[in-house]
Amino acid sequence: MDDELSRFAEYIQEEINKGFSHVAIEHAMNPRNVGRVDGENGFASYTGTCGDTMTISIRVSGGRIVEAMFYTDGCGASIASGSMVTELARGRTLEEAAGIDQTEVLDELGGLPEENEHCALLAATALHMAIETFVKSIERDKLL
Ligand code: FES
Repeated sequence: MDDELSRFAEYIQEEINKGFSHVAIEHAMNPRNVGRVDGENGFASYTGTCGDTMTISIRVSGGRIVEAMFYTDGCGASIASGSMVTELARGRTLEEAAGIDQTEVLDELGGLPEENEHCALLAATALHMAIETFVKSIERDKLL
């Protein structure tokens, strides 16, 4: 057990040395809001230039995102970013949530290594697309 703990401590130290903050490591290792929202009314799946995909599922009620969840097949930084973007989106109005961008995700994570900054963009873009699907469905319903 002591061996396992010291290997884990070494791993964490290596990640910190690569430029991962404590917050980013914590979100990557213990992600919040993984999965798909029951009764979702907004959903998007977006594949970034790196080839990894992020899905975001939201439930909107009274103009606010009341639930947000994610799934990704990407790297640890994308897991941390999906976790953070869904935490940030919950409770916000659609307009506020649409304002969540790569910079805000990176700031809240305490930064990511430069080569992983695009992972935060993947999460923010997937959120924007999920919001768009909700808005389009409302507009479509108005036309029916
Ligand atoms: S999401 Fe593709 S490298 Fe992180």
